[in-house]
Amino acid sequence: MPPITSPVTAQELEILSTKAIEAKGRAYCPYSKFHVGACILTASGEFVVGANVENAAYPVGTCAERVAFGTAIVAGHKEFKALAVATDIRPAASPCGMCRQFIREFTTPSFPVYMYDADGAYKVMTIGELLPDSFGPEDLPK
Ligand code: THU
Repeated sequence: MPPITSPVTAQELEILSTKAIEAKGRAYCPYSKFHVGACILTASGEFVVGANVENAAYPVGTCAERVAFGTAIVAGHKEFKALAVATDIRPAASPCGMCRQFIREFTTPSFPVYMYDADGAYKVMTIGELLPDSFGPEDLPK
């Protein structure tokens, strides 16, 4: 069984939200004009950011959450404490279905996803709540 996700301190959450909100500014979203920033807190205490990166062939574009997790995985991180996602709408946006599955691959059901709105207010849900009864690596035959 993977380890239980550790809680996030107030100081970590402050940094996590600041970095996710800042990352919105790095989105490449000329088609939707919908800026999304993401930041992951790794188990080792590092912060890894992402933003949505769109493409002229629309379906090829990638969400902020998947950019952040892909970057973290390739940097060698294996365990994660929390994710923050920031948009310019209210109420806060929540990760799309594809991103929920992508996040689930690398996290446990108690992993928290903090969702920030245009005013910097957040709601938080676990990945288990966002994607119940999910399919994951442990479900594949050995
Ligand atoms: N988007 C994200 O980056 N994350 C989400 O959770 C929802 C949607 C992006 C994809 C696309 O670039 C734009 O927002 C509009 O859908």
